[in-house]
Amino acid sequence: MLSQEKILINRPMGPAHNSQGLFKLVLHGRVAEEAQPGQFVTVRTSPSSDPLLRRPLSIAGIDKKAGEITLYYRVKGQGTTLLARQPEGTYLSVLGPLGQGFSLPAVSPDPASRTANPAELILAAGGIGIFALYSLLEYLLKNHLTDRIPVTVLWGGLDKAFLDCATTDLLFQLPKNNVVLCTMDGSYGYEGLVTEPLEQLLSAGRKGRETMVAACGPNVMLQAVTELCQRFYVSSEICMEEYMACGLGACRGCVCRLKDETGGVKHGRVCLEGPVFTGEEVVWHDRI
Ligand code: FES
Repeated sequence: MLSQEKILINRPMGPAHNSQGLFKLVLHGRVAEEAQPGQFVTVRTSPSSDPLLRRPLSIAGIDKKAGEITLYYRVKGQGTTLLARQPEGTYLSVLGPLGQGFSLPAVSPDPASRTANPAELILAAGGIGIFALYSLLEYLLKNHLTDRIPVTVLWGGLDKAFLDCATTDLLFQLPKNNVVLCTMDGSYGYEGLVTEPLEQLLSAGRKGRETMVAACGPNVMLQAVTELCQRFYVSSEICMEEYMACGLGACRGCVCRLKDETGGVKHGRVCLEGPVFTGEEVVWHDRI
C-alpha cells in the first residue's frame, strides 16, 4: 500500500546530549491498519526524488486504534539526513507494510488447535535490531500475553550511552530480571556478546521446542543465535537486516540462501519472503 502518512513526531531519541544519531518517527495514516510485528516500510526520505531510493525501516510500534506506526532510524548518509529534517505536521510517502513478520502467539488460544503458544519467549537483539523486536514486545504486552508466557529480553549494544538512548518504556514493563543488557565495553550490564547470556539461559532449566527465540541484529549474531537454538532444540525466528533497494522483490538486491524442500539450497528475498525467517531455514554456510 502506498500512503501519504502525516509526521506526528520526528525528533532525536534519548537525552539531548546523547542522541547517538537515533531518531524517533511517528506517522499517522493507513499503514497501521495492516501492519504486523516484524514487517517493515520503505519511506521516501524527502518530497523531491533525490535520493531516488526509499529507505527501509522496521516497524517498531503499531497503534491500530490511533492509526499510528512508530519507526526508529539512525542518521547515516544522505537519505536519513534528509529524513531527519522533515518537519512534523508534513507528509511522507510510505510504502507498506512489507514482508513477512513474526509468528504471533494467539491472544485467545484455541485448545483444539495444533499450534500451541510457546511456553516461553526469548527476544534477542543486537544493536538497533531491538527496534524490530519492540513491535513484537509491544504486541505481547498490549495483549497481556506476558502474564501467561514468560518473556525475557536479551539486548546487546556497544556501550551504555547507546543502550540509554535506544531504550523505550516497553522494557520497563517487564520484570527487571527478565531484561538482560550487555555492552561490548562493559560499561553496563553483562560484558560481551548477547549470545553468551543466551547460551546460559538455554542451557539452564528445561528448554525445547516449546521455547521460542525471536532475534534481530547483524547477520553474524543471527547465525550464532540460530546455531545455539539448534544445539538446544529450541525454535527460532530471525529478522534479517539486509540492505534493500526496491523492497518489493523486484531487484533481487537482498537475496539470501534458504533450504529448499529437497534439502538443497534456494534463494530467497529478504524483503519478500522475509525479513523474518525460521532459524532452521536459513543457510549460513556454503554447505548444508
Ligand atoms: Fe529488491 Fe529485495 S530489495 S528484491
